[in-house]
Amino acid sequence: MRVLSGIQPTGRPHWGNYFGAIIQYIALQDAEQAYYFIANLHALTTVRDKSLLRQYSLDAARDLLALGLDPHRAVLFVQSDVPEVSELCWILLTGTPMGLLERCHAFKDKKAKGLIADAGLFTYPVLQAADILAYDSDTVPVGEDQVQHIEVCRDLAGSFNHQFGEVFVLPKAKVLDNSARVPGTDGEKMSKSYNNTLAVFEDAKAQRKQIMRIATDSRPMEDPKDPASDILFMLYSLVASERECEELAAMYRHGGFGYGDVKKKLAESAEAFFADARSRRNDWESRPDDVRDILRAGAAQARTKAAQVLARAQEACGLKGI
Ligand code: ADP
Ligand code: TRP
Repeated sequence: MRVLSGIQPTGRPHWGNYFGAIIQYIALQDAEQAYYFIANLHALTTVRDKSLLRQYSLDAARDLLALGLDPHRAVLFVQSDVPEVSELCWILLTGTPMGLLERCHAFKDKKAKGLIADAGLFTYPVLQAADILAYDSDTVPVGEDQVQHIEVCRDLAGSFNHQFGEVFVLPKAKVLDNSARVPGTDGEKMSKSYNNTLAVFEDAKAQRKQIMRIATDSRPMEDPKDPASDILFMLYSLVASERECEELAAMYRHGGFGYGDVKKKLAESAEAFFADARSRRNDWESRPDDVRDILRAGAAQARTKAAQVLARAQEACGLKGI
């Protein structure tokens, strides 16, 4: 299995990012080959401040390392350090129907809101396809909202192969079922655009405060409640053990408890769950040069692979051998 995924350096990771996407990256790092990169070229479509983009990029690498990504088992690098991908992107762009990109969510949503999209956002899925195809990736762990982009990648790779011969490996998306949509503190999908996030690398005290502020319903304490439809329970099930979840579910069905107690349990479990990662994060914070070394070594490895695939594509469509 050849696994690849990218994470945009656009801010601090929240529980949705972790349980919806990052947790899978870490779990899959023992695949035959695993490539993970910081998608700074994609982030450039929204982050337009150079020091912020640099900061976010280094932070994203620190976050992944703190969450358990092991540079000895997986290749970790920054997207723009592999220029072969941008060349491959152009090759793919030449065969991309406009209609295919017009149907993609990110562009459609922005247009529907009356905002002006630039060509970078419009062609975003093609760069993503180049990211995936450049390493012969067959498995792409992503959150649910990225599945459409993997389908675009398969379409583009399939039509290139059809025209020019078998050059690209067709990848498959891998989505986790149970945490495909992590709720935010307001019950909507957790997202930094909705201001309803719980950050992974949060100070325990600050996180406790955020959890205590989660809005709950006003049904009487005695009433039995359905755990499956409750935000607190859903969040708790991400950070508590199976036994703890069963106990809390039984308490919900029985009734006679206050949400304040559930919030305390949630805050305690979250603190325990993220404690190691938070302490490792502090450690990486103080070693920026070690992080840069890891990224440099990762980019060198990634470039070797991407150069082979790019050469194959160039050869197949007549850009080489003139
Ligand atoms: P945001 O919505 O906060 O801007 P991104 O779009 O940057 O988050 O998402 C990065 C990754 O995290 C994607 O793969 C996405 O599917 C996943 N993700 C984001 N929010 C959630 C969520 N609430 N539940 C599950 N996965 C999520
Ligand atoms: N678009 C992805 C996101 O927003 C990030 C990304 C860029 C990516 N290139 C990729 C994910 C290639 C998987 C494979 O989360």
